[in-house]
Amino acid sequence: MIVGSAPGFPHGIIDPIEELGELAVSYGICLHVDLCLGGFVLPFARKLGYPIPPFDFTVQGVTSISADVHKYGLAPKGTSIVLYRNHDIRKLAYVTEWSGGLYVSPTIAGSRPGNVIAGAWAAMISLGQEGYLEHTREIMEASKRIQQGVKEIPELFIVGRPDMTIVAFGSNVIDIFEVNDILSSKGWHLSPLQRPNSIHICVTLQHVPVVDEFLNDLKDSVQTVKKNPGPISGGLAPIYGAAGKIPDRGMVSELLVDYMDNAC
Ligand SMILES: Cc1ncc(COP(=O)(O)O)c(C=O)c1O
Repeated sequence: MIVGSAPGFPHGIIDPIEELGELAVSYGICLHVDLCLGGFVLPFARKLGYPIPPFDFTVQGVTSISADVHKYGLAPKGTSIVLYRNHDIRKLAYVTEWSGGLYVSPTIAGSRPGNVIAGAWAAMISLGQEGYLEHTREIMEASKRIQQGVKEIPELFIVGRPDMTIVAFGSNVIDIFEVNDILSSKGWHLSPLQRPNSIHICVTLQHVPVVDEFLNDLKDSVQTVKKNPGPISGGLAPIYGAAGKIPDRGMVSELLVDYMDNAC
């Protein structure tokens, strides 16, 4: 099986699903599309007229799709959907192995809470297609404004061409993780990314009324770092900077495991 993302979490860019579909068909293997982040945005963005590349079962070769209701579907955490192209493929995911009695589960996961499923149902029924369409309109417009604002800051560059509501940006002249620390001190918590060093904002409805405020704080933070480069007390820039430079990814992974082991 091969997997493509629509979009990938770091940069909000949709993988070339059509090309992956051709590969899957030519090798006779399955293609899963991770639409966890995009599932409740991309279909609506396309309806709104945004140029969204193909990502779903209309693409030959796509055999399954996952879409998280607990992300842009606005349902409680712990709810996602897997869709299969047909029943034969779906049946392959069923689990019947059990040491006692008769047992069948549609997925590997066994016991699950019903309350979050009820929450997901309630979110989808109460918002409906119109609700998701309106939310998508608002967050797509906000992310376009953020993209434009970032482009206007000469010290920054946007990573790739974002397809939806995630905007990742870095810098060739200042330490972007230092910018992130200053932003954090102002109450903005973006995600640091590596390869290339960058940070991203995942635009949600909460950001819609504060786009200008965010862009002003971003401009100020860039100027602060430009005038006073160097880590701030309690900042995470040195850690992210160092981790990005370690060529041995296994070592980074070991450090993370040790961190988790000590934190729990
Ligand atoms: C594209 C994509 N797939 C999968 C996941 C995993 O989602 P979760 O941690 O909710 O299971 C994420 C999380 O952000 C994501 O962005």
